Amino acid sequence: MSGVHVTTTVNGDAVEFVCPPNEPLLDVLRNRLGLTGAKEGCGTGDCGACSVTVDDRLVCSCLVLGAEVEGRSVSTVEGMADGADLHPLQSKFIEHAALQCGICTPGFLVAAKALLDRNDDPSETEIRYALAGNLCRCTGYDKIVRAVDDAAKDIRKAKAKAATKTAKAKAKKAAAK
Ligand code: FES
Ligand code: FES
Repeated sequence: MSGVHVTTTVNGDAVEFVCPPNEPLLDVLRNRLGLTGAKEGCGTGDCGACSVTVDDRLVCSCLVLGAEVEGRSVSTVEGMADGADLHPLQSKFIEHAALQCGICTPGFLVAAKALLDRNDDPSETEIRYALAGNLCRCTGYDKIVRAVDDAAKDIRKAKAKAATKTAKAKAKKAAAK
C-alpha cells in the first residue's frame, strides 16, 4: 500500500510523516511520532483513552485517520505542560489522587482541557457530561471530577490575576503620559 505524505502541526510544532491511508491517527502518534501519551484502550471509540484534539475539537484518535490531519492542528497530552510547569489539570490530578493505573489519565486530561478551554467555570454536571466519553476502571470518577473542578478554580484565579496585572500596567502607562 502506498503511503500518504502528511504535513500537520502537533502540539505547536510543524510535523511531517508518511503513513498508509488507512492508518489511525493514534498509531501515527504513538508509532511514527513517538507520542505515546494517547493510549489504545478499545480501538473502537468507546473508552476515550486515545483522546486528542484536532483544531480544538475533541476526538478519539483511534477513529481518525492520520491522513485526515493534513493541514490541521493536533494537540495531545504531551503538549499540556509548559516545560517543567504542569498544566493545572495535571497538578490537580496528582493532588487529588485522580489516577491509579493511569491508562485512562491522558484521555481524561485532554478531554478536561477541551472543556476548560471553552468553559472555565463548569458545573459538576457539565464536568461529568464533558467526561462521559472517557472510561476509568480504577478511580470511581469522583476524584477526577473534583480535580477538574479544582483546576478550573486555579485557572480562573490565574486569569483574574493576569487581568489585574494588565489593568495596572495600562493605568501606569496612562499616568506616565
Ligand atoms: S482507544 Fe480510542 S476510544 Fe478507546
Ligand atoms: S486510573 Fe486506571 S483506568 Fe483510570
